[in-house]
Amino acid sequence: MTAPEIDIHGKRFRLFMTRDEIAHIVAELANQIRRDYAGKHPLCLIVLKGAIIFAADLLRQLAIPCSVETIRARSYGTEMTSSGTVQIEPPILELRGREVLLIEDIVDTGLTLRALVRFIEEHQPASLRIVALLAKPAARTLRVPLAYIGKEIPPVFVVGYGMDYAEAGRELPDLYALADATPGQSPQ
Ligand code: XMP
Ligand code: MG
Repeated sequence: MTAPEIDIHGKRFRLFMTRDEIAHIVAELANQIRRDYAGKHPLCLIVLKGAIIFAADLLRQLAIPCSVETIRARSYGTEMTSSGTVQIEPPILELRGREVLLIEDIVDTGLTLRALVRFIEEHQPASLRIVALLAKPAARTLRVPLAYIGKEIPPVFVVGYGMDYAEAGRELPDLYALADATPGQSPQ
């Protein structure tokens, strides 16, 4: 059952994308990536924590041999806004010489991604591509190109399918967007 509206920490969120729509987008992404990585053995690098559910679905559909590793980026600033100062918890697996596929849930300003890309490039991978399930309009001004975007969305704050509002809502199978807010506004 998919509720049309839910409350999280006293804020109202409306259904934004159903699990079926998400599954369709993920299947399309997997098809593209499978073609591009045929015969390679990519290192799939999952950005914690938001991308774990997307990555789990994507990896099962990719159906190509790969390695899996995680990377965590902490952005200092207000809870929902990137400050531009990003601290990275390095992965354990060696990135040098690997075909790295960075798996991210959603790109907003791209500041987090820019820091991650800089970090990964310092480790001299053979290649680096980024897949993001969702991208907000600000992501277009990124200097870091996104190889695969599931869907471009308006600048709304979303939760579900791994994405959270103050650590709540990650387990929701559908995506919800903050209701009654100026687009782009965080729910604080
Ligand atoms: P940017 O691209 O601005 O994004 O550096 C920083 C991080 O914030 C997360 N993000 C969101 N998380 N709902 C969420 O739950 C959202 O609407 C949203 N927008 C950005 C994203 O994980 C990124 O890593
Ligand atoms: Mg994230």
